[in-house]
Amino acid sequence: MTDLVTVRDEGPVRIVRMNRPEKKNALTEAMYSALAGAIEEYGHRPALHCLIIGATPAGFCAGNDLHDFQSAIVGGVGLGQPVLRFLYALARCEKPLVAAVCGAAVGVGVTMLMHCDHVVCSEDARFSTPFVRLGLTPEAASSLIAPRLMGHARAFSLLVMGRALDAAQAQAAGIVNAVVAAAQVDAVAMQAAAEIAALPAASVVGARRLMRGDADAIVARIDAEAGVFKAQLATPQARAAIEAFFARRK
Ligand code: COA
Repeated sequence: MTDLVTVRDEGPVRIVRMNRPEKKNALTEAMYSALAGAIEEYGHRPALHCLIIGATPAGFCAGNDLHDFQSAIVGGVGLGQPVLRFLYALARCEKPLVAAVCGAAVGVGVTMLMHCDHVVCSEDARFSTPFVRLGLTPEAASSLIAPRLMGHARAFSLLVMGRALDAAQAQAAGIVNAVVAAAQVDAVAMQAAAEIAALPAASVVGARRLMRGDADAIVARIDAEAGVFKAQLATPQARAAIEAFFARRK
C-alpha cells in the first residue's frame, strides 16, 4: 500500500487521486500498483458506476518516475509488472473512466487519458509525450489509439516529435472534453461522473464496449510496445537523456 495514491468512494463514483505533488506525480511502481488495484476493484464492485482519475493541483502526472527507468536500465528490464498491470487494468476496464487534469500531463500522464471516456482539464494544462526525445517509444497502446483519435499527422507530432499540446489543442485533438478554470476541474469532472453514473449502467457498459472495440487488441499493442520500449531503454541514448533530465537541476 502507498499513501501516494488515495481512493475515495462518493456514492456510485470512485475518486482515485495521484498524490505525490513534490515530484509532480511522477509514478513509482507502488503508485502503479495502487492505481491498478483501485481500477480492478472498481470493475468488480456493482455499486460503483464511474471512476475519476485525478491528482493534485501541482500537476496531473509527470509520467513514469525516471529513477525507476534508471533502475530498469541497470537491471536490464523494461516496463515493470506494476506498470503493465496498470495499463492492462485501463485496457480491460469495462466501466467508464473520467479524468480531471490540472497542469502538466507528461508521458503516461497523457497516454492514460486515451483510455478515458471523458476528460476535464484546466486552462493551463499541458500535454506532452517526450518518449522519442528520451530515446524511448510510446506505450499504453497510444501508438494504436492516438492515430485513431486525432489522425496520424497529429499523433506523430505528439508521440514522435514530442510537441506539446496546450488545453485548447488537446481539446481540438479529441483528448479533452472540457477546459475550465483550475479551481473548477474537480467539480466539473465530478458533475460529469455523476451524470454518467446516473445512466442505465448496463447500457453504458454495452455502448462503451462497442465504441472501444476489442480489448484484446489493445492489450496486444501494450505488449508489443513494451517489447520495443525495453529494447530502447537499453540504448545509450535513453540512458543519456534520462541522466540529462536529472543533471539539468544540479
Ligand atoms: N521522474 C522522477 N522525478 C521527476 C519526474 C519524473 N518523471 N518529473 C519530475 N520529477 C521531479 C524533479 O526531478 C524535481 O525533483 P527535485 O525537486 O528533487 O529536483 C521535482 O519532481 C519537480 O520537478 P520540476 O521539473 O522542478 O517541476 P516543473 O514544474 O519545473 O516541471 C514537469 C514539471 C513535469 C514538466 C517536469 O518535471 C518534467 O518534464 N518531468 C519529466 C517528465 C518526463 O520526461 N517523464 C517521462 C516521460 S516518458
